[in-house]
Amino acid sequence: MTTPILEVSGLAVRYGKIEALHKASIKVGAGQIVSVIGPNGAGKSTLLNAIMGALPVTGHASGRIAYLGDEVGGLPIERRVARGMCLVPEKRELFASMTVEDNLVLGAYRRKRAGERNFLDQLDHVFALFPRLKERRAQAAGTLSGGERQMLAVGRALMGKPDLLMLDEPSLGLAPLIVKEIFHIISALRQTGVATLLIEQNARAALQISDYGYVLETGDLALEGPASELAQNPRVIETYLGLAKRPV
Ligand SMILES: Nc1ncnc2c1ncn2[C@@H]1O[C@H](COP(=O)(O)OP(=O)(O)OP(=O)(O)O)[C@@H](O)[C@H]1O
Ligand SMILES: [Mg+2]
Repeated sequence: MTTPILEVSGLAVRYGKIEALHKASIKVGAGQIVSVIGPNGAGKSTLLNAIMGALPVTGHASGRIAYLGDEVGGLPIERRVARGMCLVPEKRELFASMTVEDNLVLGAYRRKRAGERNFLDQLDHVFALFPRLKERRAQAAGTLSGGERQMLAVGRALMGKPDLLMLDEPSLGLAPLIVKEIFHIISALRQTGVATLLIEQNARAALQISDYGYVLETGDLALEGPASELAQNPRVIETYLGLAKRPV
């Protein structure tokens, strides 16, 4: 593999005296979709927030976070964003009273401020990926359905043209059909060259579209492997996939 987009090694996170993540090491290669699956409280959001530099003030991270070969662990979140890292957090943080389109435009704010003249060049691409957002471009974000809000959060992230997209449980609270739609879109993003680090409790949907996967359990990476192999692992099947043959 050429230089990975992201290479995390020995990343540990404490909240006060409690260590929520123990020496985790993960890698995301160019154009890959990598997923981290695991139950509630395993430390999944902690891992993503630490990679992004978005831990709460009580959180403290140690270890190495290399982005395109450079250590970024000491950089503030804005500098990581400027380098092309982007996180769609668990709480989607949309601007409820603003329209769908204005939320998307805000996603390109950093590029506008950096003086990029065509900072809105991703708008058509986002509308092509999410036709529902185009239909609802003038609607207030706060009136969208859960699935549409999730689409808007991902769309807004894409407006910033990230190289590494990190998604914290995009399927959370969504009906199976919408989950399928969103995962299909994430999978399609591969063609645009963006690498995706996906955190999910919906192991089946995540492993189906991923190249590689990790299983995080109470702060430890318990298992890892190519996604197709993980999906065949008896322990993964029993604990995370339930009825093995049921389609999504
Ligand atoms: N700000 C915080 N202060 C103290 N403890 C925290 C804080 N945030 C998270 N934790 C603890 O760290 C552990 C991991 O939490 P985290 O949110 O990373 O889990 P998760 O895998 O994302 O869970 P979920 O699937 O429910 O979102 C939990 O035990 C949680 O209580
Ligand atoms: Mg979480």
